[in-house]
Amino acid sequence: MRESTSATPAIGQRAGERRVRSTEEWLAYFRLNARRQRKIPWQSSGVAASPAELAPLRRSLQAWQLGETSDGRHLAASADRFAAATGDPAYREVIDLFIREEQRHGALLGRILDDAGIPRRQADWGDTLFRRLRYSITDIEVWTTPVVMVEVLAMIYYNAIRRATGSPVLRAVCAQILADEVPHVQLQCERLAVLFRHRSRTRYRATMLAHRVLFLAVMLLVWVGHHRALRSGGYSWTHYRRAAYAKMNRAWQRMDPQRYVWT
Ligand SMILES: [Fe+2]
Ligand SMILES: [Fe+2]
Repeated sequence: MRESTSATPAIGQRAGERRVRSTEEWLAYFRLNARRQRKIPWQSSGVAASPAELAPLRRSLQAWQLGETSDGRHLAASADRFAAATGDPAYREVIDLFIREEQRHGALLGRILDDAGIPRRQADWGDTLFRRLRYSITDIEVWTTPVVMVEVLAMIYYNAIRRATGSPVLRAVCAQILADEVPHVQLQCERLAVLFRHRSRTRYRATMLAHRVLFLAVMLLVWVGHHRALRSGGYSWTHYRRAAYAKMNRAWQRMDPQRYVWT
């Protein structure tokens, strides 16, 4: 969907700016981001985390590594349909680069597990549930909604892991993933704003109500599955819940089509 013709590659909400980035801008961003990955100090130290430090993290890291690893076929098919419906074929390329970035996260976490001698997992209840939810309908909105929620919670999760470990490698991997996830959330929110743009305010409010119910469930499930790791990183239940809603409220604001100037 071509909402703007500017080709500025910079991504990030500038003060006073209320414009959905064009497909071309997102393409430029993902291409640039692929070339400016942080250096991870694998050679100098390995993972170098003590077994005691890894104990509350290992199951959780296995699950997130699996979650970050997907061939993206369902998303690519949904993106194709969305691109065709909106006359924006380049959107598929944006999604391909987005999928590649997620696969890079999976590869980084996979290497962490391998270096630490933690086996990779092939299945996890949270991952299975999340995939079923995403694949239930091949509609870009149904796909994007749980993804943006998990990406919001991922920012809390990787921050917790970064705080829970003294390993320079694991900290650098978390920093890279956190840096990538901020624009991911922004991309998903902007695409949802495009989808909500012609929705009546009554239907939009009903959609937001459904979002609140779903987010409560996703937030609780992430806590159930990962509270040991989150606690290791300094997140009590109250702290986690407050941080989750603070971030999700910002994401909900960014999905509101009334926030943007449409050209
Ligand atoms: Fe990711
Ligand atoms: Fe992401």
